[in-house]
Amino acid sequence: MVKGRFNVSLHSTPNSDIPRTLPMEAIALIFSILLTIVSLLLVVICGASGGIGQPLSLLLKQTDLISHLALFDVVNAPGVAADLSHIDTRSTVSGHGKEDMDEAMRDAHTVVIPAGVPRKPGMTRDDLFNINAGIIRDLAEGVAKNCPDAFVLVISNPVNSTVPIVCEVLKQRGVFNPKKIFGISTLDSVRSSRFVYELDNSIDPQTTRVTVIGGHSGVTIVPVISHIPGQRFTKDQLDVLTHRIQYGGDEVVKAKDGAGSATLSMAYAGAHFTKTILEATVAGKTGLVESTFVNLTADADSTAAFRATTLLDYFAQDVEFGREGVSKILPLPALTAYEQVLLDAAISELRVDVTKGATFAIDNPKV
Ligand SMILES: NC(=O)c1ccc[n+]([C@@H]2O[C@H](COP(=O)([O-])OP(=O)(O)OC[C@H]3O[C@@H](n4cnc5c(N)ncnc54)[C@H](O)[C@@H]3O)[C@@H](O)[C@H]2O)c1
Repeated sequence: MVKGRFNVSLHSTPNSDIPRTLPMEAIALIFSILLTIVSLLLVVICGASGGIGQPLSLLLKQTDLISHLALFDVVNAPGVAADLSHIDTRSTVSGHGKEDMDEAMRDAHTVVIPAGVPRKPGMTRDDLFNINAGIIRDLAEGVAKNCPDAFVLVISNPVNSTVPIVCEVLKQRGVFNPKKIFGISTLDSVRSSRFVYELDNSIDPQTTRVTVIGGHSGVTIVPVISHIPGQRFTKDQLDVLTHRIQYGGDEVVKAKDGAGSATLSMAYAGAHFTKTILEATVAGKTGLVESTFVNLTADADSTAAFRATTLLDYFAQDVEFGREGVSKILPLPALTAYEQVLLDAAISELRVDVTKGATFAIDNPKV
């Protein structure tokens, strides 16, 4: 989210009128046009006709980093694809229905998964898990079969459990690479920036990225507000902020009153994360960091002590990306006593969520 300028020398004459710097956006555009000419970069959206899938596809249609956007859904994908395909950007859009998962995924570079059902008022987490777990397992099987080298970005909830399902399926198929599987928890950082800004207008919410560690539901969401420069919130303010960030999803579910959960803000966050992955893995941009829910063996050495102490193999933390996906899982930031209490509560709940997902995949292989 940090916007900036690379210093790029265009001319050696000191008094030249030619600007000596190019905006980052211009460099990205030049690179992506070259990329589109020389390669076919396929990104698949699974669940593309849904509340998140449609605006996410719309946002991704606008990036030249993607040359082919394949929309897969069990309903209405050809219609959404026909609509998007009229937008005057370079990428091709194709729509794939129920029977066409293999065709949609074949040789994909990246698979983004917002497929499943969203939470409705009165629905328990178990209700959500019972439906979405099977959907995610089947999509992971599709990845193993059709694009085993793909980056897999999981949006479907509960992320704390759906990411372990994807990983276990890929392990069963012998194609697991923890550097390439991500749970998209970006919305927690996006909400944090916005909610902090509402209390303190002196920050720029677009350039102030908030690290959010732990997991991606309720108490497992631990925003590290103390690292935002200049923050001096009172305990009462922190209580309100933290609760709002942890339960921001509930705010939307309640306001939509039965018509679904967060879709537009999620599509924004999902598009941002997907573009970050493409910028790192395809465009080779370095130094890009986001909080994301990953399997910690993606950076086994630096997470060994944490895994041994917490008995957790999955965690959301700041990750630096490289061409291979996870380049580094950054060390945990120093926490205040307030944040440490939140983290302790997160860890015990996370263990339950992760075990639930992994156990489902082991006990219920696709027949
Ligand atoms: N990670 C996050 O921060 C975050 C935020 C909000 C919502 N979510 C989750 O994202 C998921 C999608 O939410 P939504 O509001 O878009 O739901 P939605 O019901 O509007 O859309 C889901 C889409 O998935 C499709 N689908 C169902 N089974 C499928 C399958 N086997 N293959 C392909 N497509 C399939 C449906 O036809 C539908 O079009 C939910 O699980 C929700 O809880 C995650």
